Amino acid sequence: MLSFSEIFESYQAQTDSITFPAQPENLYESIAYFMCASGKKIRPVLCLMSNELFNEIHTDAYLVANAVELFHNFSLIHDDIMDHSILRRGRPTLHLKYGENTAILAGDMLLIHAYMQLNRINSAYREQITHLFSEMACRICEGQQMDIDFEDREIETLKYEDYLRMITFKTSVLLGTAAQIGAIIGSANTQQQNDIYDFGENIGIAFQIQDDFLDAFGDVSITGKQVGSDILENKKTAVLLKAFELADPFQKKELKAAMQLRGEDRIHTVIDLYKKLKVNEWASTAILHYTEIAFKSLDLIDIPVYKKEKLSELANSLLVRQS
Ligand code: IPE
Ligand code: IPE
Ligand code: MG
Ligand code: MG
Ligand code: MG
Repeated sequence: MLSFSEIFESYQAQTDSITFPAQPENLYESIAYFMCASGKKIRPVLCLMSNELFNEIHTDAYLVANAVELFHNFSLIHDDIMDHSILRRGRPTLHLKYGENTAILAGDMLLIHAYMQLNRINSAYREQITHLFSEMACRICEGQQMDIDFEDREIETLKYEDYLRMITFKTSVLLGTAAQIGAIIGSANTQQQNDIYDFGENIGIAFQIQDDFLDAFGDVSITGKQVGSDILENKKTAVLLKAFELADPFQKKELKAAMQLRGEDRIHTVIDLYKKLKVNEWASTAILHYTEIAFKSLDLIDIPVYKKEKLSELANSLLVRQS
């Protein structure tokens, strides 16, 4: 069995196998620009760890890990266009640096390359895995559409369940599916596949709540993203919905008025209200809650506990993540 850091390193070594041509320069340079400021790689690592839970890591698991990370990067490039984001991984977003048209194409190219990786896996399960991957991709598009639709909805018309459904689609299915496919390649049975999917999905929910929290309370030098960008975009985040729920009638009015302010004024006023309402404290409880649900699914898998330690470590590391 590989150690936690060996899994990260072995994945990192694999990514060198993904190469792009030089021309047209703007397109491929923009991809290199985006990919070299690498992210946390939690999805490919989750796929590999889930594979290793049931068997030795198979070369196909690396191909799927690549596909998952390529797909994730594609979704971030397009997400930054949709969210009008200016900063990603500590640098100007791809569309700001190279223009929206190139950003659309760079994203498309990464999506195509994700499928090129899937095309290379063993034909015994290629169709099943590609189908699961595509279903996951459909859910992400649906989740992203819900996220955009919610921008124009009044806060009081949205229930917390609506939010949970939206983040499950836009974020959690990717973690769940990455884990499930790792398990399929490791010859896990259907029950084990479902349990590991649930583990991934629930850490995904915790992950997105933390992401919403960090948008307001994170440090730009660590997150690499603009503080308050969700507030500027009118996103219906976990923290906004919870703040509104906790607010008394007067504070509800204050919060709605604050959301009408412009620029930095809006960001500061809303964050001050969040602090008054102590939503930052609530967020840690919510994140812990979904991580505990995830651990319950992991417990259900009939495999010696020591083999699950890396997945537990991964889930625990997400609880304290600042980026
Ligand atoms: C950002 O994902 C998008 C969300 C689903 C919140 P990550 O925080 O994993 O992004 P990178 O890959 O580490 O930059
Ligand atoms: C991103 O959610 C989800 C996808 C990319 C599918 P966010 O919009 O919250 O992610 P960040 O905060 O920009 O990374
Ligand atoms: Mg975004
Ligand atoms: Mg978004
Ligand atoms: Mg976010």
